[in-house]
Order: sequence, then C-alpha cells, then structure tokens
Amino acid sequence: MSDELSGKVAIVTGGASGIGRATVAALLGAGATVAALDREEGGVGEVVAEGAKTGGTAFAVVADLADTERIPDVVARVLQRCARIDILVNCAGVAGRGQTLLELDQQDWDLVHTVNLKAPVLLMKHVARHMIERGGGGRIVNISSSSAFRARNSPMAYATSKAALVQLTRCAAAELGRYDINVNAVAPGITKTGMTRAFGGDEALQRIASSGPLENLFHRVSQPEDVAAAILFLCLPASRQISGQTIHTSAGAVV
Ligand SMILES: NC(=O)c1ccc[n+]([C@@H]2O[C@H](COP(=O)([O-])OP(=O)(O)OC[C@H]3O[C@@H](n4cnc5c(N)ncnc54)[C@H](O)[C@@H]3O)[C@@H](O)[C@H]2O)c1
Repeated sequence: MSDELSGKVAIVTGGASGIGRATVAALLGAGATVAALDREEGGVGEVVAEGAKTGGTAFAVVADLADTERIPDVVARVLQRCARIDILVNCAGVAGRGQTLLELDQQDWDLVHTVNLKAPVLLMKHVARHMIERGGGGRIVNISSSSAFRARNSPMAYATSKAALVQLTRCAAAELGRYDINVNAVAPGITKTGMTRAFGGDEALQRIASSGPLENLFHRVSQPEDVAAAILFLCLPASRQISGQTIHTSAGAVV
C-alpha cells in the first residue's frame, strides 16, 4: 500500500466486477478513498467489504447509468459524502447483443451508446465542473476497447461507442487542460471478466487471444489487474504530463 493518492477521492463506475473492481482495489492500494459505483448492489457491497479488510476506504454508490437523467444526483451523492472528487474512472460498459449492421436493432444500439458513451460524457461534465469550481486539478480515465480500432469481428454498436469514447477523451483533454485536468483512455483487449464470461471458459478465451483476427502478440488473455495497472498509472502524479492519449493494454492486438 502506498500513499500517493492519499486524501484524493475517486469514482469508479462498473466497480462491482472485472476491470472496475480491480481498479477500485488498485486505487485503494494507492491510498485513495473510492466511490465504487454500479447497478449491482451485491457486487459493489462485496467490493466495499474487501476494501475495508485491506484498510482502504471504499463506499458503494448504487445507480443505473442507463438512467442518465439521474447522473447529476449521483455526482451530488458522492460530494455529499466526501466533499471532493479528484478522479473519475468511466469503466461501466455493456457489450450489447453483438449485432452487425444488417441485424442492427435500435433498442440495443441506444442502450449500448447510452451506457458506454452518454453516461461517461455526462459524468465527465458534472465531475469536471466540480473540479474547476474547486480550483482545478483532476484525472479522468475512460475505458475504451481494442474494438474501437478494428472492424473485423467487432460488434457495431459496441465498437462505435468505444471509438467515440477515444475522440471524446481527446476533445475533453483539449478543453480541460487549462484547468489542470488530465483526460486519458485505456483500451483493453481480451480480458477475463464478467463481460467475456459469455464467450465460454478459459479455453475459449485462450483461443481468442491465440488465433484469428483478435489474436495478440503474446497469445495471452489479460487479467483485470493488467488493465487496472494502466488506469492507476494515469491517476498518479507520475503521469501528470500525459493527456488526450489512449494506452492500449491489449498485448499488442492493435499495433
Ligand atoms: N473484458 C474485456 O475483454 C474488455 C475488453 C475491452 C474493453 N472492456 C471494457 O472494460 C469495461 C469493464 O468491463 P469488464 O470487462 O470489467 O466487464 P464486467 O461485466 O465484469 O464489468 C462491467 C460492470 O459495469 C456494470 N454496469 C453495466 N451497465 C451498467 C449500468 N447501466 N449502470 C451501472 N453499472 C453498469 C456492470 O454491473 C459490471 O459490474 C467496459 O467498459 C468494457 O467495455 C472490456
């Protein structure tokens, strides 16, 4: 455990599972107080209990980000509890039903784009406003995907939402730099989480990492901690000169 983020408050969306859960643990390990936000009450409760065992301070915020009207209240709830927000990690995401253009269904498109893009942009707006009112300074990390950078085998709604998140990151970085707010993205490749459980067991994930259009340079499936390490780096003082960038944690699947 370090104290590099001691006194800082972070919101991690999707904090109940997978990459978000590992990010909560990583930020707690660096001394931050963490609001673990998720629609899954049970999962987020476990994360808070695990954090308490390691001596960290995490608390649960149960919210459905598909209900974007409530996002200002969600941010207000964190501020009521902690009075400040220094870090926002937009990690919650949904894969949708994986449709192609010819199969596209509007409801699926809308849900995927609401959770993966509209909710992050509104969270960024409200959190950045708070950071500026407080005198500036802060970190925002958006979780994109290697699907944003390739077209073969990428479900259309998901891939376009994640590609838009990369450009959103660049635009927000350009706008918020004058307030000393760094905005970056992380683009994971195939990672063992709740989202990829639907692909099958370990063998199925290994096949995806080893062969075909999704293969990576090491033929290795990422673990949530591999992605959380990059997210943590983008929240630490050591990365203060990095903004508007995307770090790929896909084991070179996108080169
Ligand atoms: N696992 C991978 O291979 C992979 C690859 C690239 C990108 N990603 C991205 O990483 C991020 C984290 O996903 P993961 O792989 O850890 O999956 P996961 O399913 O384990 O975690 C996603 C979390 O987001 C939460 N969530 C989903 N919809 C929500 C909503 N409407 N409101 C609040 N919370 C909601 C879920 O409850 C879950 O806890 C996602 O943005 C995903 O697109 C994952």
